[in-house]
Amino acid sequence: MINLKNEKEIKLMEDAAIALKAALEAIEKEIKPGVSTMHLNNVAEAAMRKHGAIPAFKGVPCPYKGGQDYKWAICTSVNDEIIHGIPSDNVVLKEGDIVSVDLGTYKNGWCSDAGRTYGVGKISPICEKLIKVAKDAFFYAVDKAVVGNRVGDISNAVQTYVEKNGFSLLREYQGHGIGEEMHEDPGVPNIGKKGTGPRLKAGMALAIEPMICEGSPEIYVKNDKWTVATRDRKMTAYYENTIVITDKEAKILTI
Ligand code: MF3
Ligand code: CO
Repeated sequence: MINLKNEKEIKLMEDAAIALKAALEAIEKEIKPGVSTMHLNNVAEAAMRKHGAIPAFKGVPCPYKGGQDYKWAICTSVNDEIIHGIPSDNVVLKEGDIVSVDLGTYKNGWCSDAGRTYGVGKISPICEKLIKVAKDAFFYAVDKAVVGNRVGDISNAVQTYVEKNGFSLLREYQGHGIGEEMHEDPGVPNIGKKGTGPRLKAGMALAIEPMICEGSPEIYVKNDKWTVATRDRKMTAYYENTIVITDKEAKILTI
C-alpha cells in the first residue's frame, strides 16, 4: 500500500532531512586520506543527534541468513563495494579511493534517507565520471517524478542515462517509498520501462537511488553478510535523495 503524505507529514520529513543534511555536511568536511570509515560514522551520528534525530539504519535486519541487525549510523562502501559497507576503524581512506556514504534519520517518527559517493583526494577520471553519472541519473529521474507519470518512467530515466554513459546498474537493489518507515511501497527500480508501474500521485515520498557499476553489475556479499561488492572488483558509485511528489515539481528533501 502506498501511503500519501499530507503537508504536515511532509514538514516532519523535512525536519528529519535537516538532521540528515547536517550529518552529510559534517561527513564531507572529514573526508580525506588517513580518515577511517568509523570516524565518518561517529561524526555523522553526532550531527544527527545534535539535530534531535536518531540514526534510522540502526536495527535494520540483515537481508542475508545468519547476519546480524545493522548497528551503525551510516554505510560506508569503498571503491568496488557498492552498498551496505560497515564502518570500521580498520578501513582507512587513502588518496584515490571513492567512498559511498549512505545514511538515514528518524525524527518525531518520520524518516529521511540519502547517499553520496565522495572522492578521497585526487581520483581517477573514471571515478570522476562514475560519481557524476550516478548523480546526474538521479536528476534525470527526478524530472520524471511528476503527477500522472509512473514509477517505470523514473526507472527508465535512470537506466537510459546510465547505460548511455557505458555503465551498468545493480539489479538486486532498488529505491523505495519512505515515510514513517524507511522502506515503504512502492519499490523504485533503477531499471524499467516507461509507462509501467504505479501511477505517481501528489504526496508520494520516494527514495530514488541509482547504484552504478563501471563494469559488470554482478555482485557478491562479503563475509560480514552486509557489504555488497562487484565480482569484477571494478569501481561503483551511488547517489540517493528523499523526494516528495507535489502538484508542481518534485521537492528534494535531502539536498
Ligand atoms: N539506505 C538504504 C536503502 O536505501 C538502507 C541501508 S540498509 C541499512 O535502502 F541496514 F544499512 F540500514
Ligand atoms: Co534508500
